[in-house]
Amino acid sequence: MTANALSAVNVVAGYGHTKIVNGVSFDLAAGDALAVLGRNGVGKTTLLGALAGRVNVSSGQILLRGKEVQNAKAYRRVSKGLTLVPQEREIFATLTVEENLRIAASNAGSPGIDTAYELFPRLKERRANKGSALSGGEQQMLSIARALLTNPSVLLLDEPFEGLAPVIVEQLTEALQMLRKTKSITMVLVEQHADLAVEIAGNGLVLERGQIALSGDADSLRENWHDVEKLLSVA
Ligand SMILES: Nc1ncnc2c1ncn2[C@@H]1O[C@H](COP(=O)(O)OP(=O)(O)OP(=O)(O)O)[C@@H](O)[C@H]1O
Ligand SMILES: [Mg+2]
Repeated sequence: MTANALSAVNVVAGYGHTKIVNGVSFDLAAGDALAVLGRNGVGKTTLLGALAGRVNVSSGQILLRGKEVQNAKAYRRVSKGLTLVPQEREIFATLTVEENLRIAASNAGSPGIDTAYELFPRLKERRANKGSALSGGEQQMLSIARALLTNPSVLLLDEPFEGLAPVIVEQLTEALQMLRKTKSITMVLVEQHADLAVEIAGNGLVLERGQIALSGDADSLRENWHDVEKLLSVA
């Protein structure tokens, strides 16, 4: 039996003594994707942070290809192929687009910065601009491009489509699906648009009070869409 690409086993994580994620488990095979849904402040970013090594995991395990990584530093997880596109884009403001990309491309096995320019021609046009001189959407593209250049086997995406024009969202979706198919990249996608996220990922879970309130494949979630919507509503 081959190990899953990414597993969470009863993960408890939070800030100080406050537990935000309280016993989350899932398994993803290589090339699988999972949509993580839930209201604002429910802990989606915290869960990705725990997976990526930015938020303290107080108990439970995170397994990358069957190996425990919950105690590994964030940069070690990146070198093992677990890469986060953070909700705050965190590009280097004082470096140019090309310098930002080169740093990411220094990771072993990187596909090289030309692949980033193929995916986002806009970044090529802006390659000599400083990060601080980019529009919101361009910063977004740069953040995603940087993640892809680290040669990830698992990509954690925190609202990657936010602020992007619909045509770019479509291109990006296609590119991500291509990476799943051709390179078996595994993805965890946090996204506010539940229907879009479930369609893209094919699997989803809804968080509530730090736990999984509902989960399943796209078909079973669609069958229970009323419950999904209830869990996402602000009422
Ligand atoms: N650095 C931090 N220190 C302390 N508490 C935090 C920190 N970051 C987030 N929180 C708290 O943890 C909870 C979950 O936040 P988180 O950012 O994970 O939510 P989210 O589901 O990603 O929300 P959104 O949809 O708004 O992005 C919130 O109550 C938030 O106030
Ligand atoms: Mg968030």
